[in-house]
Amino acid sequence: MAERLFIFDTTLRDGEQVPGCQLNSIEKIEVAKALEGLGVDVIEAGFPVSSPGDFQSVVEISKAVTWPTICALTRAVEKDIEVAAEALKYAKRGRIHTGIGTSDYHIKHKFNSNQDEILQRAIACVKYAKRFVEDVEFYAEDAGRTDNEYLARVVEAVIKAGATVVNIPDTTGYCLPDQYGAKIKYLIENVDGVHKAVLSTHCHNDLGMATANTIQGVLNGARQVEVTINGIGERAGNTSLEEVAMIFKSHKDTNIETNINSQKIYSISRMVSSLMNMPVQPNKAIVGRNAFAHSSGIHQDGVLKNRESYEIIDPKDVGIDDNAIVLTARSGRAALKHRLQVLGVELEQDKLDNVYGEFLKLADRKKDINDDDVLMLVGKDRTAMHRIKLEYLQVTSGVGLKPVASICLNIAGEKFEAAASGNGPVDAAIKAIKSIIHRTMTIQEFLIQAIDKGSDDMGKVHMQVEYDGNVYYGFAANTDIIAASAEAFIDAINKFVQ
Ligand code: KIV
Ligand code: ZN
Repeated sequence: MAERLFIFDTTLRDGEQVPGCQLNSIEKIEVAKALEGLGVDVIEAGFPVSSPGDFQSVVEISKAVTWPTICALTRAVEKDIEVAAEALKYAKRGRIHTGIGTSDYHIKHKFNSNQDEILQRAIACVKYAKRFVEDVEFYAEDAGRTDNEYLARVVEAVIKAGATVVNIPDTTGYCLPDQYGAKIKYLIENVDGVHKAVLSTHCHNDLGMATANTIQGVLNGARQVEVTINGIGERAGNTSLEEVAMIFKSHKDTNIETNINSQKIYSISRMVSSLMNMPVQPNKAIVGRNAFAHSSGIHQDGVLKNRESYEIIDPKDVGIDDNAIVLTARSGRAALKHRLQVLGVELEQDKLDNVYGEFLKLADRKKDINDDDVLMLVGKDRTAMHRIKLEYLQVTSGVGLKPVASICLNIAGEKFEAAASGNGPVDAAIKAIKSIIHRTMTIQEFLIQAIDKGSDDMGKVHMQVEYDGNVYYGFAANTDIIAASAEAFIDAINKFVQ
C-alpha cells in the first residue's frame, strides 16, 4: 500500500508575506475554502500576533473550514503562543506552529545566545504550546544551515516535549538536494523516538532547488511537505504545491500518495494569481500558460498522433479544460458563470450581474475573452468599494506633441478635476492625479504586462508606491494601458488614504 504524504499549505502565511500579495479576510476565506476543496491536510492561516488582521483571518478561516487542520505560526514567545491559541479557538482541529532559529547564524547573530540556551527555549515553547493544543509543530529555523548533530539534539528534545510534527526548514534555500535528503536521513537514523512525530520539509527556492529538495526530503523519510500555490513566497518563493503533488502522482514508483484532487489545481492556481495580483510565469511547470503548449512542428505532430509521445501529464488531470467555451460578446450570463466555476470562483447573483456588465463592456473592445480576463473582471468588482475612483481620463499625446492629461477623480462622492503635462502620457496622468491628492508619493516599481497576444489585449499594471515610509501596492487591468496605469496608481493610493 502507498504511504500517505501530508500536504501543509502555507500560501496564506509564507506566501502572503510577499509585498503586494496581501489579501483581506474575505479573500483569505475564499482561498482557504478552495484549499479545502483541493484536499490539503493543513492550512497555515497566519501569524496571529503579527497584526489584528492576521488574528482575525485565523479566526474566520477556522470558522469557515471543516476538515483540514488550521495552523497558526508563532515565535518561541509565550505571548505569541497565547494569541495563536486564542485565534484557533474555533478550529475543529487546531495546530500551533512554534519554533526558533537553530543555525549558528541565528544563535549568535540574531539571539546573541548559545546552543544550550536555544535548546531550552525550544523545549519550553513546545511545552507551553501543549498547554493549549494537542497538535504542536516545532520549526528549527534555518535548519538547512544547522549542524546535523545539534539539529538532532533539538529534534529529539522537542519530540520528548510533545511536538507532533517537526519542521526542518531550508529557510535560505541554500541546501543541495543531496544535502537536504541526507539531513532528513540523519535525523531518521539518529533521533531517539523520531517515529513519534512526523518530519516536515519547508524549502525555499533561492537557488531554484525548492522542489528538488522537498522531493529528496520525502524520499528520505519526511512525511509532510510545506508548500504554496504557484510556489509563491518571500524572495524566490517556496516549494510549489502543484509540482510536488504531480511529481508523486506521476511517479507511482515512489509509493507515495497525497490527498490532492489534481483536477482542481489549475483553478486554484488562477484564483491565487488573480487575488494576489501575482502573475504565473508562462513557463512555470504544471500551471504556466505554456506548460502544455507545443510550438515545434515535430512536437505538435507527435502529440496529435499520441499525446504521451511528448506529454507526461494529461492537461485534464490538472483541470485544464481543452474544450473551454470561448467567451465573446454574444456569451450569456450562464456561460460566464460556468467559466467562473471552472476557475474556482462562485459569485452571488448581484455580483455576477456586475461582473457580467463589465464583461460585456470588455467584449465590445476585445474579440475573445480568456480566463485571465475573466478573473481580472472579478478583481475589478472588488475595487467598487474604493474611496477614490477614476471618473474620467483624457490624454492627448503623439509624435511632436507635449502629452497632456485631464482627469476627474471621485473622492467619497465629490468630484475633483485637474490637468497636467508630462514627459509621456502616463507621466502626465500621474502628475494630474498628484495635483489632486496632495501627498508626497514616489512610484518605486512600475510594470506593464500584456495578458495575451493581440493588439486588443488587456494591459496589466503592477505598481509600488512609497508614502510616509511605507510601500503600497496597486494593480489594474484595462485595454487602455494609460488608464490601467492611472488606475493602478489610484488603487495604491486607496490603501493609505482613508
Ligand atoms: O522559512 C522558514 O524558516 C519559515 C519558518 C518560520 C517556518 O517560514
Ligand atoms: Zn518559510
